[in-house]
Amino acid sequence: MAIAWHWFVTYFMISWSIAQANTQENIVFQANYEDLNRGCWEGSFVLNECEERCECRNGELVNCYRVRKDFIKMDILERRRFLDAYKIVSTYPSFRKDYRRVVAYHIMYTPTELLHEGPEIFLPWHRWWLVEFENLLRRVDCRVTIPYWNWSRVANHWWGGFGKEDFWSPGAHGLGGDGTTPNLCVVDGPFSGDKWSLLKIGGGGCLKRNFSYLHLTGDKEHMKSTLALPVEEFLEFEEILREIYHNEIHWYVGGTMFTTEAANAPEVVPHHSFLDKIWLEWQKKGKEYKNVFFYDVPRKFPKTNYYGWQWLDSDNLPDQVKVMYED
Ligand SMILES: *[C@@H]1O[C@H](CO)[C@@H](O)[C@H](O)[C@H]1NC(C)=O
Ligand SMILES: *[C@@H]1O[C@H](CO)[C@@H](O)[C@H](O)[C@H]1NC(C)=O
Repeated sequence: MAIAWHWFVTYFMISWSIAQANTQENIVFQANYEDLNRGCWEGSFVLNECEERCECRNGELVNCYRVRKDFIKMDILERRRFLDAYKIVSTYPSFRKDYRRVVAYHIMYTPTELLHEGPEIFLPWHRWWLVEFENLLRRVDCRVTIPYWNWSRVANHWWGGFGKEDFWSPGAHGLGGDGTTPNLCVVDGPFSGDKWSLLKIGGGGCLKRNFSYLHLTGDKEHMKSTLALPVEEFLEFEEILREIYHNEIHWYVGGTMFTTEAANAPEVVPHHSFLDKIWLEWQKKGKEYKNVFFYDVPRKFPKTNYYGWQWLDSDNLPDQVKVMYED
């Protein structure tokens, strides 16, 4: 009886394991089958499981790009995916140390005179920093990319008030609005003072804003003429991006954005992503545009092993990162 029982148990265990193994195999097989079914036709473009845009070559997905999108054109789910990931990395203990490290590169490790007051590293440094930031967010959800905020389309009313077009929407899919008196704390959206706070290195306390209702210089017309600048006028192009487009948003949003701790403000990320898109568009005018200037800057980004010239080609960034911007 005992022996029969033993055999029964053994038999049962073995057939159960086989059944398990079969199921496992089926899952793998079905995944492959689904991949094929998804239409990996030679030369076609396919989104992989991280929603990177890949090319199908010999049945494999290659040349996968992170696709950064216009915040205003993202649906509510996509916006929330980004904002939720941002909140998770900036608040959960398991991520917060790395969030602090990424923010600290901007606030502490890189002197602002070097970063913002000349052309030496401003553009490629921020391109590197966006990828660092994006890598962190993608640890929460690998589908997340850094959205860009095209403020040029709303240059004369960038502070919002236009419904779905509104970057500063108070809902869970926006960045919240202007700060309020007396302390300029943001009181709506996912980053309101009761829900979120700045890091100690960011000054602590609530996220602050103090909107100046002034028109931005970088409207669509201005942007067109900036993008039309020839390669010989790179320094002019760079200065417009850095000293006008970049600075104006920091000044006009005010509050935390108008301090050296600005990197702790969530809006800094989509702002810089748009500047990066503008630079990339200009670079696409030709090889000489892509490679101008930074090969002659023999200076590493502080506390990293990178030089600016390593961050010129968005089709081929360090660590095999490829970035494209959807219009
Ligand atoms: C910003 O948006 C406007 C309006 O949709 C568009 O014409 C323009 O090309 C965009 N700018 C960039 C640099 O993407
Ligand atoms: C907010 O900005 C305005 C200028 O737009 C300035 O006059 C005011 O002092 C600022 N408020 C605070 C509390 O800093």
